[in-house]
Amino acid sequence: MRIMVCRDKAAQGEAAASLFAAQILRKADSVLGFATGSTPLMTYAALAGLCERGAVDFSKARTFNLDEYVGMDPSHEQSYSRFMADNLFSKVNIPRENCQLPNGNAKDMDAECGRYEAAIEAAGGIDLQLLGIGHNGHIGFNEPSGHFARKTHCVTLTETTIEANKRFFASAGEMPRRALSMGIGTIMKARGIVLVIHGEDKADITAKAIRGPVTPSVPASILQFHPDVTVILDETAAAKL
Ligand code: F6R
Repeated sequence: MRIMVCRDKAAQGEAAASLFAAQILRKADSVLGFATGSTPLMTYAALAGLCERGAVDFSKARTFNLDEYVGMDPSHEQSYSRFMADNLFSKVNIPRENCQLPNGNAKDMDAECGRYEAAIEAAGGIDLQLLGIGHNGHIGFNEPSGHFARKTHCVTLTETTIEANKRFFASAGEMPRRALSMGIGTIMKARGIVLVIHGEDKADITAKAIRGPVTPSVPASILQFHPDVTVILDETAAAKL
């Protein structure tokens, strides 16, 4: 694991965006794995800036997102599909048909999970995957459990995650209880991984994930076994390392 500590969120975003820009420069049709939530916002803003200045060209890139809520229309303002459209896809020159998320509205969830996993494989696998981390150590929506999920699957969200994400909804009752998520196995197959973590409130889980034992009760700890992970921390998240 390469660990870098940046002064603030903006610097983290620039650092992560540089790695994605370099990936696209090396391989124009790179397959990029993206995340949602507050963590990647600065990275997406920095990528949009680079694209606007002509420093990076997304026209041949393909993307797969980590997850999507179940039962949510892609146009809903809290869907991850909408989040990506608003924060990245509408701001860079990527053809919309090159951008995939799991379909949380599919009739048959198992079939959708299989389709998504197969689509990633058919694209040649993910070259570079962006990750954030939950307070409970989840990556994607792989919640703490007794095992590491291998493939894209349907997840029942934990109370910790519902508590953390309900802020985006008008009421806690509106927050979906299930999501489709790439599995830990899907994430570990990405050739490169960029994990961004900021904030004092993530200092404990950062230390557990990076320095603690590898265990499915801290799903992000598995990243210690991946051969190419760059962890980009701010000073507050790094405080307990
Ligand atoms: C989002 C995702 C989640 C988030 C995590 C952190 O696609 O997969 O694992 O990365 O919940 O969320 P924020 O960045 O909002 O703290």
